[in-house]
Amino acid sequence: MPPIFQTSTFAQGNQEGFDYTRSGNPNFRILSSILASIEDCQYSTVFASGVSAITAIVSGLKSGDLVLCEENLYGCTVRLFEQVFKKFGIKTEWVDFTDRESLSLVTNLKPSMIWLESPTNPLLKIIDLKEVCKVAQNNKVPVVVDNTFATALLQRPLELGATISLTSTTKFINGHSDALGGAVCTNDSFWHERMVFAQKALGLQPSPFDCWLITRGIKTLPLRLGQQVTNAATLADQLANHPKVNWVRYPFRNDHPQKDVAQKQMNSGGAMVTASIKGNLEQTYRMCKNLRYFTMAESLGGIESLICHPATMTHASISPEVRSQLGIDNSLIRLSVGCESIDDLSEDLDQAINQMK
Ligand SMILES: Cc1ncc(COP(=O)(O)O)c(C=O)c1O
Repeated sequence: MPPIFQTSTFAQGNQEGFDYTRSGNPNFRILSSILASIEDCQYSTVFASGVSAITAIVSGLKSGDLVLCEENLYGCTVRLFEQVFKKFGIKTEWVDFTDRESLSLVTNLKPSMIWLESPTNPLLKIIDLKEVCKVAQNNKVPVVVDNTFATALLQRPLELGATISLTSTTKFINGHSDALGGAVCTNDSFWHERMVFAQKALGLQPSPFDCWLITRGIKTLPLRLGQQVTNAATLADQLANHPKVNWVRYPFRNDHPQKDVAQKQMNSGGAMVTASIKGNLEQTYRMCKNLRYFTMAESLGGIESLICHPATMTHASISPEVRSQLGIDNSLIRLSVGCESIDDLSEDLDQAINQMK
């Protein structure tokens, strides 16, 4: 393992050209090069968190620019656009990119950027990335894909035509729920220069120690993700057959509305499962708390299974009206499936759901 370069500054004139950690550090460089290699791209810039990476990208826009956003994005991304970037003149239009009609808006509205997630958080909608990117390219609009739920192991947005692939490395990439990080990958030198500038000019840089932890975590990504995906697919089927479950969303299941697109652009269905439980807010919340192996917590992608109640947790910052329009209701649960024994996870889900009255 490389050492941790736990320093804020560097002696001037050093061979590597480092001067101050806000604008570069060997641990950033090591992690960036690994991330660029798994995304198979030219450039990768690391940040303090996924939210820092989002901020870095949007800092490359200017007042008056319009961002055409997928309507189901991570709650804090929505909050950033609506409560922060809006104050600086960045406009947004929210559209359902699984609807082909949305593509005409790319031509008609002439946005400065398109912002997608696929699979989306928490509904696991799958956007046809190749199709959207083709229309965007014809209109010279850069496309950002938040690839946090899939990671480069399951999906390569840049190969599908995106300009930028963004990842919260806090999640699957690190995998151990002990560090925060974000990364922006691109083949576009113009956007890369903007990211390098944003890292130092806005102070969005990660800590050397977090980069070191993520560099260690990434070594087991294929092993972890392999086990997590197998567990997730099994639990998705189990939930779908449970009488107290309304429906399940898992990208590779036959009943997923965009299953064909998922199979075209992803290597597997991933380790996230979303379901609607036959219960009101209190019953659903209590069911989550009654689980023993799934910890009810924010975040995802770690080796330990987590359960989230989006309406009161990750998506609580979105208004109840908008949440209900999107389908993020009080009975929705989101599982981040870990590496534990499938028997333990399976029994745990059954016991908690069966306790529901
Ligand atoms: C899809 C997605 N993007 C971005 C983020 C933000 O990442 P971070 O918590 O590292 O800032 C999250 C966090 O949950 C996420 O789920």
